[in-house]
Amino acid sequence: MNSRKLIDTARALVAGDKGLLAMDESNPTCNKRFAKLGIPQTEETRRAYREMIVTTPDLGESISGAILYDETIRQKKKDGTSFVKAITNAGIIPGIKVDTGAKALAGHPGEKITEGLDGLRDRLAEYIQMGARFAKWRAVIAISDGIPSPGCIESNANALARYAALCQEAGLVPLVEPEVLMNGEHTLEQCSKVTEEVLRAVFDQLYAQGVMLEGVILKPNMVLPGLNCPKQESLDVVANSTVMCFLRAVPAAVPGIAFLSGGQSGELASARLNAMNIRFRSRIPWALAFSFARAIQQPALQIWQGQQVNVLAAQHALYHRATCDRAARRGEYSAAMEVAIGPEQHHITQASR
Ligand code: 13P
Repeated sequence: MNSRKLIDTARALVAGDKGLLAMDESNPTCNKRFAKLGIPQTEETRRAYREMIVTTPDLGESISGAILYDETIRQKKKDGTSFVKAITNAGIIPGIKVDTGAKALAGHPGEKITEGLDGLRDRLAEYIQMGARFAKWRAVIAISDGIPSPGCIESNANALARYAALCQEAGLVPLVEPEVLMNGEHTLEQCSKVTEEVLRAVFDQLYAQGVMLEGVILKPNMVLPGLNCPKQESLDVVANSTVMCFLRAVPAAVPGIAFLSGGQSGELASARLNAMNIRFRSRIPWALAFSFARAIQQPALQIWQGQQVNVLAAQHALYHRATCDRAARRGEYSAAMEVAIGPEQHHITQASR
């Protein structure tokens, strides 16, 4: 294990005011999102969509790393340049999702275990050959009556730690993603309790498996009330609860926390990250960054619609969300940014460079 290289990569992923772009939707997930908008669900449309993303001008201003999927890391732009090369040329570090999905956990109705450890050592070696420098594994934890169970938390934490150890052995920085889902009626307090319990279990297991925390990025949920909870909370309450929960459970050796968006709107995800950085940035041991998929991509996907003529407008929307999230890292995001620049101005700015 080359510790120096792992630490350098982990730090680079959360350096300055940048964050990560998750564009690693599995084919079924990507197809589901396309289907909702009437976009054909083919390998070529998925490729064209990802080409729109990776060729967005100046994306590297805000994005430090991009997470790819097995199909995508093998794909190319129309001109023959591999996506890995296109991303690298934009100053973005290529990463790869390596779990094979969350499946029903035997004996635990309503709970899931993430699979993908079998053969992982060999798959990691192949991804490194292709240029990946970090990896992602997502565990999902649902909150409902009587769940999560200790069995679900322990088995997912153990799988995350075994994945992380294999990544570091191979020279890849593991993004460790235990996602407590937003679905349900649970309160913010319940989310906080479960998130803390899950994080403690994950760090126990990372320790037991000998994972070097300086070479890990944590990718968690924010502490939020369930989507159907009648009591939603202010930005300040979310920021306070989230940071307090992490201060109790996440060791200071971890260089960065890069939040997932989990189904929040792009605006809310930016505003909540911003609130955390305004209040706590100078008082916490880790960088508070982002690793959003839907909160960065959704407006762009809706504009793109599978049509080449919409590419520039979709790229503008993607660039805009990434820029808002970058501002949120500095605690400088405001709702005014959402109307500040129109597509024309962004393209004029680019043309004048
Ligand atoms: P969302 O930001 O859409 O939750 O996706 C993040 C992610 O990478 C899920 O694994």
